[in-house]
Amino acid sequence: MRWTEKLEGIGVTENRLILTLFGATGDLAARKLYPALYRLYKNGHISTHFALVGTGRTEWTHQEMRQRVSESVKQEVDDAKHLEEFLSHVYYVSHDVNDTTHYQRLKNFQEELDEKYDTKGNRIFYISLSPTLFPTITGHLRDQQLITDDGYNRLIIEKPFGHDTASAQELQQSLNNAFDENQIFRIDHYLGKEMVQAIRNIRFDNRVFADSWNNQGIDNIQISLLEEVGVEDRGEYYDTSGATRDMIQNHALQILALLAMNQPKEATAEAIQEEKIQVLASLYYPQDAKEVSEKFVRGQYGPSKELKGYRQEDKVSETSETETYFAACVEIDLPQWQGVPFFIRTGKRLNSKATTIDVQFKPTQEGVPGNQLHIEVAPRTGYRFTVNQKKLGYSHETESIPLEYYYTPEQLAETPQDYERLIYECILGDKSHFAHYLEVEHAWKYIDHLFSYWNQEKPEFPNYEAGSRGPDAAEALLAQYHTNWQE
Ligand code: BG6
Repeated sequence: MRWTEKLEGIGVTENRLILTLFGATGDLAARKLYPALYRLYKNGHISTHFALVGTGRTEWTHQEMRQRVSESVKQEVDDAKHLEEFLSHVYYVSHDVNDTTHYQRLKNFQEELDEKYDTKGNRIFYISLSPTLFPTITGHLRDQQLITDDGYNRLIIEKPFGHDTASAQELQQSLNNAFDENQIFRIDHYLGKEMVQAIRNIRFDNRVFADSWNNQGIDNIQISLLEEVGVEDRGEYYDTSGATRDMIQNHALQILALLAMNQPKEATAEAIQEEKIQVLASLYYPQDAKEVSEKFVRGQYGPSKELKGYRQEDKVSETSETETYFAACVEIDLPQWQGVPFFIRTGKRLNSKATTIDVQFKPTQEGVPGNQLHIEVAPRTGYRFTVNQKKLGYSHETESIPLEYYYTPEQLAETPQDYERLIYECILGDKSHFAHYLEVEHAWKYIDHLFSYWNQEKPEFPNYEAGSRGPDAAEALLAQYHTNWQE
């Protein structure tokens, strides 16, 4: 029995589409996209009526592309025959993004595949190349009529979406010449993570949280996106970006929006985006340089005995003033969040890798601890909630005990990974876990405001040692609020 027949038997609906990938020879494609597509194929979400067309400047044959795909999915393969089936849907067209005739060639090839796989004109264009090329590619897709009239046409793009507000606006305008906002899917892979997607369920499907999720019930919220790795081989990009643009403008502020938004009126992408936009439009802007220095911390790692400092990394300027660490107290100008600090931190070359959200509830009365909700996105997947109860035995004192649930590696092996989930949601046309342009723009405005102060002062870098907890100033920031970072 063919794989796909088996799936039809269990009622999995398969989707029809041609996915064209610009940047098929790149690192992201090999590390994330091919495994994601193979898993979607394995699960029957795409199969008979599907083709992947990789493009790139390199002159590859279909066979060479299949070889690359095959290498990058080998961890996922449990049936060699099934891999062969998948590879038969994989193609390659060498392509210069500036050459009009190449788009015509690509168009003809897509039409052939459309007929062969009966994909009904459905197209996803995935650009995994430098954002400077987005306008060129989308302009050609429109002019050479690669955008079809009969099926759907969607565009997936990787971050960064601009470098600041002005460049994001410019980019949006040029993309809008070819694609409408509802066709543009900006990938933020944090929004594909299991526990980030779980935020809505935890908040809105538990009476105990739904009622106290505001400044009456919550003392503070912490979002930590900590990394052990340095800048690896991305020095060139990172030195023009830094931690704030690389992690805060997108991932951290997206998580903050999910944590602070009101319950969407309905479970649609539009309703969710509308609530997130409201949060990001209501971020409180620090009023002067003093407030910025009290509430925002930037850092850069210096060398340790074993590890290089940031300025010694490959393709990084020896006098670089780029921040590799960010911590802040972010506030939201909405009545329900008055007085609740959202502490956010991220950094490279820290002493651990952890992506966590900690919600500190207010105590019910003096002398008892407030409940804590710890949502662990990585390295484990699950959560811990501390509740107060009576100490065991004769004592009537209150003590806090953890209630926790972490998924097992076996459960997680069956769970879709970030890219797999987001590509699938794009195939379904579901934008619930993609940011609307206005979310992106509000986030940039906030970051631009911060840099308007930071750019006036030369930072004292380096200010933390590679492999450490980060700068002392980040600890001092929380001490001002009589609290500390949750570990
Ligand atoms: C990317 C950043 O968006 O996220 C990288 O550009 C960072 O600098 C990465 O390392 C972290 O993602 P994850 O999924 O490993 O937490």
